[in-house]
Amino acid sequence: MSRVLEVIGLTGGYGPIQILNGIDLHVEEGEFITIIGPNGCGKSTFIKVIFGIADRYEGLISYRGEDISTWRPDQLVNNGIAYVPQVDNIFPSLTVRENLQMGGIQLTSKILAERITEALDMFGDLKFRMNDLGASLSGGERQMLAISRALISNPSFLLLDEPTAALSPKYQTEIINSIAALKGKGLTILIIEQNARLSLSKSDRGYIFVGGEVAYVANADQLLNSTDIGAYFLGAKS
Ligand SMILES: Nc1ncnc2c1ncn2[C@@H]1O[C@H](COP(=O)(O)OP(=O)(O)OP(=O)(O)O)[C@@H](O)[C@H]1O
Ligand SMILES: [Mg+2]
Repeated sequence: MSRVLEVIGLTGGYGPIQILNGIDLHVEEGEFITIIGPNGCGKSTFIKVIFGIADRYEGLISYRGEDISTWRPDQLVNNGIAYVPQVDNIFPSLTVRENLQMGGIQLTSKILAERITEALDMFGDLKFRMNDLGASLSGGERQMLAISRALISNPSFLLLDEPTAALSPKYQTEIINSIAALKGKGLTILIIEQNARLSLSKSDRGYIFVGGEVAYVANADQLLNSTDIGAYFLGAKS
C-alpha cells in the first residue's frame, strides 16, 4: 500500500485564531476515509489547511511522499488533488456548462470536452441542464455540479466537505454512492460527512474530530458497530 496523504502534528487556523491542535491522519492509496465530528470542531479548517487556504502553524503535510505544506491550491490541483468546498462551490451566475469549463481552463478544448462528458456520466440529469444558470439548480444538483467540476482536472485524490448537507435522503444516497463509485475507479477519497452512517457504510476507516484533535480513529465497521462511540457520535441507530 502506498500512502497518499500523511499529516503529522498539524496545528493551524486563521491568522492568530488557532483551530487545529495537533492532527495526525493518513490516507492510503484507494482508501475512502470519512471524517466526522461536532459542528465547529475544525473539520473544514483541516481540509482548508491541507489545500493551502487556511494557515498552517506547525506539522507535516505530505502527499505521495512529498512535503506539500507550502503548496498553493493550483499546484495541488496540477498534482492530482481536487477539493469540493462545503459552501460556495459553484458559480451561480454561470451556466452549468461554464461551471464545468471553469474546472479545466488549462486544458485543450478537446480534452476539456472529453472530461466534461466523462464527468457527466456520473450525474446524467445535469446533461439536460447544461444551459441553465447555476443559480437555478436544486441543492442536490449543485452538489453534483460541484463534484463534476472537481473531476474535470482528473484528480487521483478527492477532498469533499459535506457534499450531502441539507439534501433529501434520496440525493444523499445518490451522491455517496457516486463517490463510492469513484473509489471503484481508483480514486482515493477523503470526505467530511454529516450523514456519518451513510458515509461510513462506504468507508474503509473513519476519524472522529473533537476540539481540533483526533478523538478516535477506527475501521468504519468498528465505528458503525461500536455501541458507545457509535451511539455518542453517530446518534441512535435508525
Ligand atoms: N475564516 C475564519 N476566520 C476565523 N475563524 C473561522 C473562520 N472559519 C471558521 N472559523 C472558526 O473555526 C472553527 C472551526 O470551524 P470549521 O468550519 O473548521 O468547523 P467544522 O468542524 O467544519 O464545522 P461544521 O460541522 O459546522 O461544518 C469555528 O469556531 C469557526 O467559527
Ligand atoms: Mg465544516
